[in-house]
Amino acid sequence: MTTPLADVDALLDLLAGCDGVYDAPPPEGDPVDLLQHGLQCAYLLAQRRPDDVGLQLAGLVHDIGHAIPGGHRNHAMVAAEAVRPVLGGRVAALVELHVPAKRYLATMEPSYDLSEASATSLVHQGGMMSAAEVAAFERSPHAADAVVLRRADEDAKVVDLVVPGLDTWVMRLREHAAAIQPGALG
Ligand SMILES: [Fe+2]
Repeated sequence: MTTPLADVDALLDLLAGCDGVYDAPPPEGDPVDLLQHGLQCAYLLAQRRPDDVGLQLAGLVHDIGHAIPGGHRNHAMVAAEAVRPVLGGRVAALVELHVPAKRYLATMEPSYDLSEASATSLVHQGGMMSAAEVAAFERSPHAADAVVLRRADEDAKVVDLVVPGLDTWVMRLREHAAAIQPGALG
C-alpha cells in the first residue's frame, strides 16, 4: 500500500525519520543509514550534474521506500509513488528506475562493482536483465539519467563521509515542488 506524500513538509519529516534507519542492518544492508545514504547520493549528483536539481533530489529520496511501512518489498516503486505528487513525474520515474538501472548495469558491465549488500539484493530484484528487459529499459527517456543516479547510489555508502545536511536541501525541495505543474505529474 502506497501513501502519496502531501507536501514538502511531509517529505522532510520522512527524510528526517531516516536518520539511524538502515535498509537492513549491516553486514546484510548498507553500512550507512538511509538519511546519510540519500545525502551522500544527492551530494555526489550535485558534483556530477550541477545543473540537474531534479536528478539530485531523486538521489536524495530514492531509498525512502525502505522507511515507508510495507515499502521494503518494492522500495523503488513505493518511493516513486510517494514523491510523485510533490516532486513530479520525472523525479518519480528516476526513483522508480534506480533498481532497473542497477540490474541494467550489472547485466551490461560485467565489471560493475556492487557492494556486498547490493549484490545480495540484486538476486531478489530479478538478477540480470533479459535482452527484452534491456531493450525496454533503454527505451525509457529517463534511462541515461537513471544510470547516473545508480552510479552515485553505489558510491554513496561511505562510512563517516561528511556531506551537507538535510537543511541544505530544503530550499531546493521547495522550489522544485513549487515549479511542478499539475499537468507535469504524469
Ligand atoms: Fe540507494
